[in-house]
Amino acid sequence: MSLNKFYNTLNGQLEGLLSAERDWLANTANASALLFMELEDINWAGFYFLYGDELRLGPFQGKPACTRIPVGAGVCGAAVSTGESQLVDDVHQFPGHIACDAVSASEVVVPLYDEAGRCLGVLDVDSPSVARFSEEDLAGLQDFARVLLKSSDLPAS
Ligand code: SME
Repeated sequence: MSLNKFYNTLNGQLEGLLSAERDWLANTANASALLFMELEDINWAGFYFLYGDELRLGPFQGKPACTRIPVGAGVCGAAVSTGESQLVDDVHQFPGHIACDAVSASEVVVPLYDEAGRCLGVLDVDSPSVARFSEEDLAGLQDFARVLLKSSDLPAS
């Protein structure tokens, strides 16, 4: 199956899974479980939520992780400070990478914004393989984030 088709199917599954529920916490919990179940060769999938100038651990699947990440620190913090998704082939070469699990080798982080442009946090997916994620994976995960955001009532500002 092509990656494009894989993510179309996955994102359709997410839409179905979230169709009966709009709670942000419940939906991010189920979204992380779906990613962990369906993506091959990953060791962590989940969310960090933005509180002021730090990210705090949200729902995830995988090993226990760092609970707080300052904006600008690590890959997650870089996604928030730059406003750009991060596709990192080798996290050990990324300046300031935060090693929650030494096994993680590559990573995708997608910042999450509401319609007003407010940053809510990030989606973070890690793999034990170097260069696990391609630009197509990144595009698929950005679509995944869009489905999640449109299917959920977001936290009040
Ligand atoms: N690797 C991340 C930290 C979060 S864990 O991977 C779950 C980073 O450098 O931002």
